Amino acid sequence: MTDSGRTKVSVFIATSVDGFIARPDGDVSWLHDGEQLEGEDYGYHQFMESVDTLVMGRNSFEKVLEFGDWPYEKPVIVLSRSLTKLPEQLRDRVKIDTSSPAELADKLAQEGIRHIYLDGGRVIQSFLRAGLVDDMVLTRIPVLLGQGLPLFGELSEDVNLRHVSTQSWHNGLVQSKYQVIGR
Ligand SMILES: NC(=O)c1ccc[n+]([C@@H]2O[C@H](COP(=O)([O-])OP(=O)(O)OC[C@H]3O[C@@H](n4cnc5c(N)ncnc54)[C@H](OP(=O)(O)O)[C@@H]3O)[C@@H](O)[C@H]2O)c1
Repeated sequence: MTDSGRTKVSVFIATSVDGFIARPDGDVSWLHDGEQLEGEDYGYHQFMESVDTLVMGRNSFEKVLEFGDWPYEKPVIVLSRSLTKLPEQLRDRVKIDTSSPAELADKLAQEGIRHIYLDGGRVIQSFLRAGLVDDMVLTRIPVLLGQGLPLFGELSEDVNLRHVSTQSWHNGLVQSKYQVIGR
């Protein structure tokens, strides 16, 4: 929870150096094209342990379904106004929700959810616009894609960040942690 009793909302995501999270067609295979470091997960497991629930956009959900095996042990909420059905085997693990960011934040706080992992570019953008993101871990992959699906988008006003730390690895990944101070 945040100091104000709201569910803490965290982003943990990888981007190209030019700020894309996927190619225009949603392809994310480039994330793993570079040198892989044996046993290194860039803090993903520790972060995942800290969250109660994942909240992701429909596009991200559909991409995860393409991978085959369902990768999450924690419950997942998929934000979508168009999705009506879930694969049978995911019905006790995934819920579809049509709430706005503000409505969802209220609902999660009432349910006692303390910390969520927010995923998907457009969904992250809408939570940022609503002032509902608390911190972000951004891992930059050393590649320029030139085009793709952006992590960030238009804002009505600046969102100020506090840089917490930056770490790099010898394969060129650079990870920065930010707290969102707000407007
Ligand atoms: N690089 C990485 O680490 C990383 C991480 C995550 C995802 N990805 C990739 O990013 C791509 C998906 O990102 P994306 O930006 O296209 O979409 P997204 O945020 O995953 O999904 C957007 C969709 O979610 C639904 N939605 C419901 N409420 C919303 C709200 N408040 N704000 C925005 N959308 C809402 C809408 O679908 P409806 O029309 O159904 O309502 C919207 O089209 C995939 O290719 C995925 O693999 C990459």
